Amino acid sequence: MKRTVLGIEGTAWNLSAAIVNENDVIAEVTHTYVPPIGGIHPREAAQHHAKFASYVIEKVLEEAEKKGVSLSLIAGVAFSQGPGLGACLRTVATAARALSLSLGVPLIGVNHCLAHIEVGRWKTPARDPVTLYVSGANSQVLAYNMGKYRVFGETLDIGLGNALDKFARSAGLTHPGGPKIEELARKSKNYIPMPYVVKGMDLSFSGLATAATDALTKASLEDVCYSFQETAFSMVVEVTERALAHTGKKEVLLAGGVGANMRLREMLKIMCEERGASFYVPEKRFMGDNGAMIAYLGLLMLNSGNILSIENSHVNPNFRPDSVKVTWINEDELKGDT
Ligand code: ATP
Ligand code: FE2
Repeated sequence: MKRTVLGIEGTAWNLSAAIVNENDVIAEVTHTYVPPIGGIHPREAAQHHAKFASYVIEKVLEEAEKKGVSLSLIAGVAFSQGPGLGACLRTVATAARALSLSLGVPLIGVNHCLAHIEVGRWKTPARDPVTLYVSGANSQVLAYNMGKYRVFGETLDIGLGNALDKFARSAGLTHPGGPKIEELARKSKNYIPMPYVVKGMDLSFSGLATAATDALTKASLEDVCYSFQETAFSMVVEVTERALAHTGKKEVLLAGGVGANMRLREMLKIMCEERGASFYVPEKRFMGDNGAMIAYLGLLMLNSGNILSIENSHVNPNFRPDSVKVTWINEDELKGDT
């Protein structure tokens, strides 16, 4: 029987528990916090996670049991240790500690950003990619180099998804704004100049969100949505391309909820074709926040002896992916035949 790990994600809206082995997701149960109005309220999201933690855990165990994976086969409990909203992280960590103690199995603290990358390496043919991770709160370009995932570029203020959502709210669109902006943008080809802010390899989106809101007084919503997307996506594609050139890697992996956007995918694909690189997008269920990615990286970490003592299991809302020593990658295999 293959080793299985249970993982719990809960950095923001999504509370999700999953059980995986090295081949596949055995079971996954998600319960999402939906605010009555507006954006996320950290305390309410944490209360949601506290209320539904036992539900998602019991249900995922029940579903795994139906597939022949009983409680006694679970070899470890992994949780998102950060980055994310402190109150949400603490709630999920408490549930994970209790479960690991009651099952008598190791506890594994997973970096949420790295889990997005590893699930992509698991569920697509990408082996050693430059990853563009764009979600609500995060926007980063990462790649593996000598024992760590390095951050080649990142947002200096808000994430791209939050910038889209912020502008959408100001335009009277409901949350989440990303998909609505994408739909409206398809109806225009009229580009209005917007602030394009790439500083070195880093990005800034908050000025763009404000400029887009201001532009609504003189231009149509469709034109502004189109121009916002073209500007923001060109910025992230530029940084991704420069990371490819700098590292000499030959693959790009897209991760995070904003990765659902077809125009962003198209722009990345064109850039990759021009550079002779391969472009990979995982199935939608593995792109946004999901428990499977936490369980899977938890499994890789457990297999390489990377576990936590309860005393060292504090959460870290600013947990940087480049602070993690990567114990689960064999460099010879990476160099292999890519
Ligand atoms: P994280 O904790 O990683 O920041 P998150 O809570 O923001 O995650 P995700 O599901 O990764 O959750 O991303 C949600 C974001 O993705 C929202 O900002 C949403 O507007 C954006 N988004 C979703 N679909 C699209 C789309 N088609 N185009 C652009 N943005 C989109
Ligand atoms: Fe995420």
